[in-house]
Amino acid sequence: MLPVGADEEMFVTANAQHAIGVFDSGIGGLTVVRALMERLPFENIIYFGDTARVPYGVKSVQTIQTFSAQIADYLMERQVKLLVIACNTMAAVASEVIKARVDVPVLDVIDAGARAAIELSDRQAIGVIGTPTTINSNAYARSIQALRAGVRVYSQACPLFVPLVEEGWLDHEVTRLTAREYLKPVFVENIDTLVLGCTHYPLLKPLLQEVAGPSVRLVDSALTVAEQAAQVLQERQLANPQRRAPQYRYVVTDIPLRFQTLGSRFLGRDMPDVEMARFS
Ligand code: DGL
Repeated sequence: MLPVGADEEMFVTANAQHAIGVFDSGIGGLTVVRALMERLPFENIIYFGDTARVPYGVKSVQTIQTFSAQIADYLMERQVKLLVIACNTMAAVASEVIKARVDVPVLDVIDAGARAAIELSDRQAIGVIGTPTTINSNAYARSIQALRAGVRVYSQACPLFVPLVEEGWLDHEVTRLTAREYLKPVFVENIDTLVLGCTHYPLLKPLLQEVAGPSVRLVDSALTVAEQAAQVLQERQLANPQRRAPQYRYVVTDIPLRFQTLGSRFLGRDMPDVEMARFS
């Protein structure tokens, strides 16, 4: 019979080789996959993008919770060792539902973004931008204030940014004007930090930095959640000990037009073949 320690070690090693499950309402969450690939180059990743039902940012809380639970179950059946909710909208209204459902650690972009914003902000005056559902949920403001009471948070929904990014207008006058218009009321509050609370916004970083000016620091939740993932894997001894090229799987519920172009824009590299999943 194996000594207890040996048994545990085998268990840990087996789990450590499982993939990280990352999911989003569509392909925007590939910005998080990109950050994870850079931060954790030996981790296997399964990405799930609900491309048939995107956008989530304008859907009801009930619907988003039902869809999110289906996706979490799908990934758990594939034995992931960590779940990352890459979609801000899902994180805003469904993260508790998901955490109650699974027995692996769950990270989400809102908690990561809130922590990073507090660390970066000197004046404790933080702006948050996101989809209407994320902003209406007040999830960022609640997370930030739970971590540090008294921080001032100014939130602004920017519904036109998702279609503008998907159109590829990352450095376009229309996007610049839209950003100025949306951000006007936030800048009036003298913020020094702006949280990019949507999967699509990291692609607008250069333009938003230009509009915000050098005194405002941008928080990219994709980068901060990748850092948290590295920490959690380390602490729980779940980091993959293998030093060979990892496996990446991409699962979607529909393959829309321009999928490859869009996917590679978010991923920062060529979009490989994808698998299709359907929920009955
Ligand atoms: N993934 C969503 C988010 O981060 C944006 C796209 C959508 O509305 O579904 O909020």
